Amino acid sequence: MSFPKGFLWGGAVAANQCEGAYLEDGKGLSVPDMLLGGDVNTPRTFLPVTDPNAFYPSHEAIDFYHHYKEDIALFAEMGWNVFRLSINWGRIFPNGDDAEPNEAGLAFYDSLFDECKKYNIEPLVTICHYEIPWAIVTKYGGFSNRAVIDLFLKYCETIFKRYKDKVKYWLTFNEINIACMGEGGIGNLYGLGVMEEEDINATQPIKLSDLKSNRQRTYEALHNEFVASAKAVILGHEINPDFMIGNMIAHVTTYPLTPDPKDILACIDEENLKNNLCCDVQVRGEYPVWACSLFKKLGVDTSFITDEDLAIIKKGTVDFHTFSYYMSNCITTHQGAETTNANMTHGGKNPYLKASDWGWQIDPDGLQYTLETLADRYPHVPLMVVENGFGAFDKVEEDGSIHDDYRISYFKSHVKAMKKACENGVPLIGYTTWGPIDLVSAGTGQYAKRYGFIYVDRHDDGTGDFARSKKDSFFWYKKVCESNGEIID
Ligand code: BG6
Repeated sequence: MSFPKGFLWGGAVAANQCEGAYLEDGKGLSVPDMLLGGDVNTPRTFLPVTDPNAFYPSHEAIDFYHHYKEDIALFAEMGWNVFRLSINWGRIFPNGDDAEPNEAGLAFYDSLFDECKKYNIEPLVTICHYEIPWAIVTKYGGFSNRAVIDLFLKYCETIFKRYKDKVKYWLTFNEINIACMGEGGIGNLYGLGVMEEEDINATQPIKLSDLKSNRQRTYEALHNEFVASAKAVILGHEINPDFMIGNMIAHVTTYPLTPDPKDILACIDEENLKNNLCCDVQVRGEYPVWACSLFKKLGVDTSFITDEDLAIIKKGTVDFHTFSYYMSNCITTHQGAETTNANMTHGGKNPYLKASDWGWQIDPDGLQYTLETLADRYPHVPLMVVENGFGAFDKVEEDGSIHDDYRISYFKSHVKAMKKACENGVPLIGYTTWGPIDLVSAGTGQYAKRYGFIYVDRHDDGTGDFARSKKDSFFWYKKVCESNGEIID
């Protein structure tokens, strides 16, 4: 069997990277609103005050807030039956701890979901895609404060009740494991809303890679997110037993660079820390056996984990496991190995793979390997690839056409890899490509790192009129969706 009947085909976006309208209709500031742009060699920076002369890409993004009807019509034209998007927490609770939700924000998503329904597109909603309200960072210290678990649950309860007949598929936290991806503040800020005091009050831009972090605080906050996620799963099922509530991790597949057994062991450690820790907790409902020694190695005191938390985590396991997959990396214990410069996930260079202009190593076989490995590790849950895509510079021809054969070639090989995994029995239920419409890059803040099947006329210098146009890949993906993955070449 190749792709099963009813397979979900679509694309994925995040509110902060596409909506814009960053203060419209009562929305409050959230973390990405404080970030300036960069590029492959220039890290993004954080500047907490909104400097009127600085360019904050998320403030207007691609203005999806005012273009969503046109965009959803284009998605429908491609034959989608699923659209992954996030609700921007700050549209619903502008300060994170407001007594009442913001009705204008709720109404916006009502209308967006109605638009999806018009075309029989199932929304898949990420509850928190790096969009922690800024006031939660400054007033509460993000998820390092247990009080934020309740604020998150109040937000969940509000949207679960409001959209209980409009949304079936939910994901609690986007890439919850970003906090485990190396040292530094970016994972803390994006994933956990945690910042050290001196950075919060910065008056000059700070490179994201230079943000300070405190490992003890990171893992306490991550644990609080596990509890928050599990509580959300339990609550969601009480509100609507038909809800399918999943987790989401950034899966960066790692290989040992050499057959040296020391590299094999290093690879296990790397995969455990970066990929497996969060999934094991959220899918199996318990910290893995090796967690104690891992925390010891990291110097993290785990006395913050209570028996009550563990019982909640056990009860609130997810209904399906989802992940992003863009690339693979290598690891070695040998000195002097070459590395790639992939933002957020610096890793060892694989001599057998080519990389994108941003250093992300292209590895479709790695996707098949990952799917088959995950199906063995978590045999009781369906899987879904909720992000996969190719960031590239696009050239607009004089007649307006965009011949993105490099993107088609990336997707072809990855769709084929998923097909093989399905043939081998992997319970894969869906695929949403990342950035089906060009949007702001999370890692670099660029528009120039384009992922879309749909081009958006918007540029890093702030020019462009937001006009949408179809790239060659649009027509290719349409054939894939309409044929349920039978027509790939
Ligand atoms: C994932 C995130 O890490 O990768 C997205 O969930 C992000 O928000 C995507 O945009 C691609 O990364 P980038 O840095 O190219 O935008």
